[in-house]
Amino acid sequence: MKVVIVGSGYVGLVSGACFSALGHSVVCVDSNEQKIETLKAGGVPIYEPGLGALIKTNIEQNRLAFSCDLEGAMKGADFVFIAVGTPTRQGGSEADLTSVYSVASAIALTADDGIIIVTKSTVPVGTGEALEGIVRAARPDLVFAVVSNPEFLKEGSAIEDFMKPDRVVVGCDLPWAGEKMKALYEPLRAMGVTILHTGRNAAEVIKYAANAFLAIKISFINEIADFCEAVGADVAEVADGLGKDKRIGRAFLNPGPGYGGSCFPKDTLALLATAQSHAVNLRVVESSISANDARKRGMGNRVVRALGQSVRGKTIAVLGLTFKANTDDMREAPSLDIVTSLQRLGARVRVYDPKGMEQARQYLRDVDYTADPYQCATGADGIVVATEWKEFEHLDFVRLAALTKHAAIVDLRNILDVRKVEAAGFELHRIGSPR
Ligand code: UGA
Repeated sequence: MKVVIVGSGYVGLVSGACFSALGHSVVCVDSNEQKIETLKAGGVPIYEPGLGALIKTNIEQNRLAFSCDLEGAMKGADFVFIAVGTPTRQGGSEADLTSVYSVASAIALTADDGIIIVTKSTVPVGTGEALEGIVRAARPDLVFAVVSNPEFLKEGSAIEDFMKPDRVVVGCDLPWAGEKMKALYEPLRAMGVTILHTGRNAAEVIKYAANAFLAIKISFINEIADFCEAVGADVAEVADGLGKDKRIGRAFLNPGPGYGGSCFPKDTLALLATAQSHAVNLRVVESSISANDARKRGMGNRVVRALGQSVRGKTIAVLGLTFKANTDDMREAPSLDIVTSLQRLGARVRVYDPKGMEQARQYLRDVDYTADPYQCATGADGIVVATEWKEFEHLDFVRLAALTKHAAIVDLRNILDVRKVEAAGFELHRIGSPR
């Protein structure tokens, strides 16, 4: 089957590479010529484990191509996926659908009968219907369907999430289009994956509800972590105890400095905005948003409290900048709030991240960028672990302690081995734990 994917960002590239790996013929289209040239030359504009190799193999097998020419790509296409960005609207909280609508208009002009237009971008409920209106107005006689097929890809494990998903959601109100979508995902179904067919509006809601639920879960465990700290319990033990209950589950119960990234903050806000426009109160979602904002803003003070002294005139080393490990993405990263509040409190901040240094330069001012964790910690009055990079677990803590001025670590991700770190002479502070 021939698949066109419009938008070669994170979701578009991962989906394109994976559909081609499933045996489909895929063209990824983007209006950014430089990006397309990079991809054609074998480069990958984002960091995602395994993506470069997957793209390379499928280009070699002639199943994957890149182009700026939508009209050319659309020839003979069975499916066209819209995978462009839906950022928060400037000055508002709802999703900005400008790119989605303009892509739909361009598709309408070039599509052949039988085309299935699929939204992969995260779009508010009702967008499928609006897109149908746009295409219908431009091409009254065209035979087409608009289907919602949301993605549940986590940065850092996106390929695995695509190839071995918990489910694939296909939201479609036309049986013929549902059948074609089934055929598209047949290779995954054959591997045992559940393809869940729903109404289109339901699929659009599922995407936001899933992200909101996960965000709420994180906010919940973050508050329980604060409670554990106050009463002398260990939140990891509490999370394990909760997680064994199948109705709750252990995933996404890891406390931290607040959730970030390009999805949870944006999607919870957009969900709230859509609900408000329908006069529905989503108080739990609203609380998660404000709890998370407060958590991120409060992390600088949390670090100061842990270190037990003012940071004015002190040097703090921040290890990890990206919003989570295995990505170079800095969007809405908690480290941004941590660094700026430490600076506001008078600290000099030195930073290190395995993959995010280049992007961090676009976000952070007046920090010292360092080449590795040891350089970062040299002469520091305290170390903060802000992202759960694996390499931080395996540092030489004896060497690290010798380099610091004051051997103290605030582990905001609870990744470090307590015994190893304390044996090296560090004073260790964790989230939601009595120590
Ligand atoms: C999230 C969802 O997990 C995906 O299912 C979804 O497809 C994606 O958004 C999207 O809408 O495109 P992502 O933002 O890549 O994926 O990252 P997550 O792994 O979900 O982490 C989000 C944030 O929550 C990170 O800041 C992470 O550190 C934090 N988090 C996650 C915690 O603080 N604790 C946890 O237990 C889990």
